[in-house]
Amino acid sequence: MMRAYDAYVSARHAVPRSRLRKRAGFIVIVAWALALALGVTRVDAAEPVIAPADNATIIAASGAVNSAADAAQIARGAYLAQAADCAGCHTAAPRPTQPGVKPILSPPFAGGLGMASPFGTIYSSNITPDPHVGIGAYSYDDFARALRDGVAPGGKRLYPAMPFPSFAKISDDDMHALYAYFMHGVQPVAIAAPETSLPFPFSQRWALMFWDWAFAPRGPFKPEPARDAQWNRGAYLVQSLGHCGACHTPRGPAYEERGYTESSKLYLTGGTNDHWFAPNLTGDPGSGLGRISAADLAAFLKQGHGGGLVTFGSMVQVVEDSTQYMSDADLAAIAAYLKSLPPRAQSGLFNGRSRAAQQTAQALKTGDVERPGAGIYATYCARCHQSDGAGVAQKYPRLAGNPAVLSASTASLVRLLVEGGGSPHTGEGPESRKMPPFADKLNDSEMAHVLTFIRNTWGNAAAPVTTHDVSSARSALHK
Ligand code: HEC
Ligand code: HEC
Ligand code: HEC
Repeated sequence: MMRAYDAYVSARHAVPRSRLRKRAGFIVIVAWALALALGVTRVDAAEPVIAPADNATIIAASGAVNSAADAAQIARGAYLAQAADCAGCHTAAPRPTQPGVKPILSPPFAGGLGMASPFGTIYSSNITPDPHVGIGAYSYDDFARALRDGVAPGGKRLYPAMPFPSFAKISDDDMHALYAYFMHGVQPVAIAAPETSLPFPFSQRWALMFWDWAFAPRGPFKPEPARDAQWNRGAYLVQSLGHCGACHTPRGPAYEERGYTESSKLYLTGGTNDHWFAPNLTGDPGSGLGRISAADLAAFLKQGHGGGLVTFGSMVQVVEDSTQYMSDADLAAIAAYLKSLPPRAQSGLFNGRSRAAQQTAQALKTGDVERPGAGIYATYCARCHQSDGAGVAQKYPRLAGNPAVLSASTASLVRLLVEGGGSPHTGEGPESRKMPPFADKLNDSEMAHVLTFIRNTWGNAAAPVTTHDVSSARSALHK
């Protein structure tokens, strides 16, 4: 009797299995944790622009496929591969030739894009259907296991630079369509991707078993019955194929995303990868999407321009390779899902109607400016972003009320100022425009002043940027 009761009590007080899993996983990956916390970043600077797959020609080229049902499935797989941006990571950067000559494009899906980590470079795999160096010998089950569990045939555990924790939620139907596309719709390329060889202990792929056990979510996407079909479609796309959280969710000490669904408090509240801060996508009215309409969000994802915001940084590639090809219905679903997320991790404020806002706008127009940074803005920035911070529609982003300008992290702002940027090239959006780099024009304290100024003018209110913030961001960038 007593024994049974003891067992009952100790069971009640036992650490829940999930927490135990986390602890055990944590101990094993301490070394991993430290190094990975510094982030996995892409080595190759230039990213290829992948043209949308011309399904008709690809399918025609593949003699193995003859029924209309197969062709439709392959075409759907091609669409899903774009929604998941498989090409973005699995295609090496274009190879430069002589100066002045266009670089040679790398074959799509042949792998070899390097992603830098503090302990070495992780290369993406060749995922063309070549049977020797690609995935041509994969069965459907091999394919699904690699995508969902991060385990390639032979038990090779994949580094989480491959977003398998998100792909775990891909539905069976979509997985079959992706498999059909990769086996019959993609040209085989017999060029092996470079081997990833990380120093010990990171070379021990088997140890990733503990990471997977502790952190990787399992099981398919579960629709929320209380929500409508559009919301569920959006949630599915964001959480599975779109792997938006890989950049937009903060990471923990072992490089794990701090949540994979809206039920986690930190999900999509903003994260830094490769020195780009991907902003808060919850309803926070300051640095989040609270003031951005669903229609503007869908336009942002289709054309790189929406509601005066312009895509920059690592989001440019996401729009160019992936979201611009998504159907209007899917983009509307993503926007509806994002707009349903309650405000979290709030920071920054905007009140465009405040008296102070009107006074500074007036002062900038008349050149009557004394605040540090205002003169720099008037000299270097106002010709594109305008003295009232409203930008120019379809050309230059507005900075007044721009959530990215109000973000808690200023990593992206510093990086953009140092390197300059260019808005995306898309099929339907306006032509790409450049923002010049200021690395040679402004010193660290001038950059801090102008950033502090744009974060606290026209009704914007966000924490100031210090010279130290700029210097440390620049030294991390080596620029
Ligand atoms: C964010 C970057 C990224 C995206 C997006 C991505 N992958 Fe990967 N993938 C990788 C990296 C990096 C590796 C190599 C990991 C390693 O060596 O442990 C990899 C490995 C793989 C492998 C294992 C191949 C092998 O045998 O080594 C397969 C299969 C694969 N990816 C398929 C896909 C498919 C299909 C998609 C789209 C649905 C996709 N990946 C999207 C980065 C990515
Ligand atoms: C490779 C990393 C990466 C991925 C993956 C990614 N994003 Fe982003 N995203 C960023 C960065 C960096 C920014 C900030 C630059 C900008 O505003 O364009 C951003 C900005 C945004 C913005 C504008 C936010 C603002 O406040 O201005 C939206 C909306 C957005 N992303 C949605 C998405 C969605 C939806 C997905 C998934 C389909 C996604 N992102 C996937 C990196 C990423
Ligand atoms: C020649 C025109 C031009 C000048 C001058 C210019 N910018 Fe920009 N700016 C752009 C363009 C174009 C983008 C979009 C960049 C991208 O997509 O990579 C941009 C983007 C931005 C963004 C990100 C906002 C968003 O939603 O995309 C910030 C912040 C910014 N600029 C600040 C500045 C500051 C501060 C200065 C002066 C030091 C400046 N810019 C000078 C053209 C300009």
